[in-house]
Amino acid sequence: KVYSQNGLQFPSLSDLLQPSPVDVDPSLIERKALIAAAAAQILAMVHPPVETFLEMSSGMYGTATSAFVVNTNIPDILKEAGPAGLHIKDIAAKSSVDASYIARVLRFLATRHIFKATSPDVFANNRLSSILTKTKSLEEIRADPIARFDGHHLPRGSHYCNGDEGLPSSVFLSSFMQDSGQNVAPFNIAFKTEAKLWDWCEEPGNEWRARRFSVAISGSADRQYAKADLINGRCFGCVSQDYLIVDVGGSMGSMTHLLYQEMPHYRYVVQDLAKPIDGGKQVSTSTTNQVTPDALASGRVELQVHDFFNPQTTKGAGLYLLRSVIHDWPDQDAKIILKHLRDAADPSSKLIIFDLLAVHTCEASSATSASGNKLPYPLLPCLGIAGAGFISGLDIKMLNFFNGKERTERDFRELGEATGWKLLSVISGVTLASFLYTTM
Ligand SMILES: C[S@@+](CC[C@H](N)C(=O)[O-])C[C@H]1O[C@@H](n2cnc3c(N)ncnc32)[C@H](O)[C@@H]1O
Repeated sequence: KVYSQNGLQFPSLSDLLQPSPVDVDPSLIERKALIAAAAAQILAMVHPPVETFLEMSSGMYGTATSAFVVNTNIPDILKEAGPAGLHIKDIAAKSSVDASYIARVLRFLATRHIFKATSPDVFANNRLSSILTKTKSLEEIRADPIARFDGHHLPRGSHYCNGDEGLPSSVFLSSFMQDSGQNVAPFNIAFKTEAKLWDWCEEPGNEWRARRFSVAISGSADRQYAKADLINGRCFGCVSQDYLIVDVGGSMGSMTHLLYQEMPHYRYVVQDLAKPIDGGKQVSTSTTNQVTPDALASGRVELQVHDFFNPQTTKGAGLYLLRSVIHDWPDQDAKIILKHLRDAADPSSKLIIFDLLAVHTCEASSATSASGNKLPYPLLPCLGIAGAGFISGLDIKMLNFFNGKERTERDFRELGEATGWKLLSVISGVTLASFLYTTM
């Protein structure tokens, strides 16, 4: 009904993904979540339990085959082929991979609704596989592979790192949890490094990973970090031209970009390690998800290299912001980051952490309970994969990469109390919650 009111049809699985404003209609998001939660629960009930478990425990093949198609640019080859699709022999000629491997991988994915077979051995993109296409042409991808992920507007790069770093690391998840004192995180065992993933990305040879992470983070901005989620931090009421906001661990400045658009009269400092800051300076011709050259030229936005494990150099800011940073770190490291900010703060300084709010499986998911509607029995209150499944999945990802974690409200309160920050309020957003702290 909402689609027809807007002169649109409900998107077909056969068509390419075409984002529309209707997709972000809150009532529709909630209804779609209910349908997806119910469908997943019905599947768990009616599909033979052994089959369900086999499919879930074979998840690594989904990750590996998705990584394969991305690394061999198959979605991009099919994008250029158009709706009629392409025979596996032609895909093989363009990707330099044996046609029989391509056929088997595409059959595996097409049976899971990713790609569609238009006739035997001929495949085309569909709604799900079109998510994997890069914005560049094949020629551009080949000419500059390090920048091949630049320009994405969906969290595709984040999907890519599941295959490139997540899968090898996950092999060590179980042994790490049984003896966690020996290593930083499963990632460190897999890649034989003591460096944290972010520092490792700074090492020579990993330039493409650093660039892809930065693009993934900024590419997620539209979906994960709705502007309303950011502006709802109520201490943005200040009118002083000198009000200073420090976006700590701000990557290429995608959050500052959103804030600057709304509040260009404030001053902003975006801090991160050297590679993301360089990325922010270089790619900044765009548009949606990073600080624009205009903002930099205005002198009101500064991109600054700063390691948040060193004392904070920008003292007495009005507001320190940490978006999707704290969940990367175990408690002892999160406390160091927060303590450095507290040491730099004035009594009137505030801190807002934007992060996911972990909930128990028996609790309503904060992402979907906004309307306050009672959930139909017997749906899981947290809505399963359509609700808290996203947060619990990211929680395991944080554990895998960093020994980090998603936290409950109590966890956030305790982190603050241990570092001199008093948790004043929590507001749930579409995805992220905002935790507002004042100095204690
Ligand atoms: C998940 S990203 C979030 C980025 C950004 N806040 C956003 O929401 O778009 C975490 C960021 O922390 C940065 N980071 C990691 N270690 C850091 C350190 N020691 N000092 C400063 N930034 C760091 C990473 O480079 C990365 O950009």
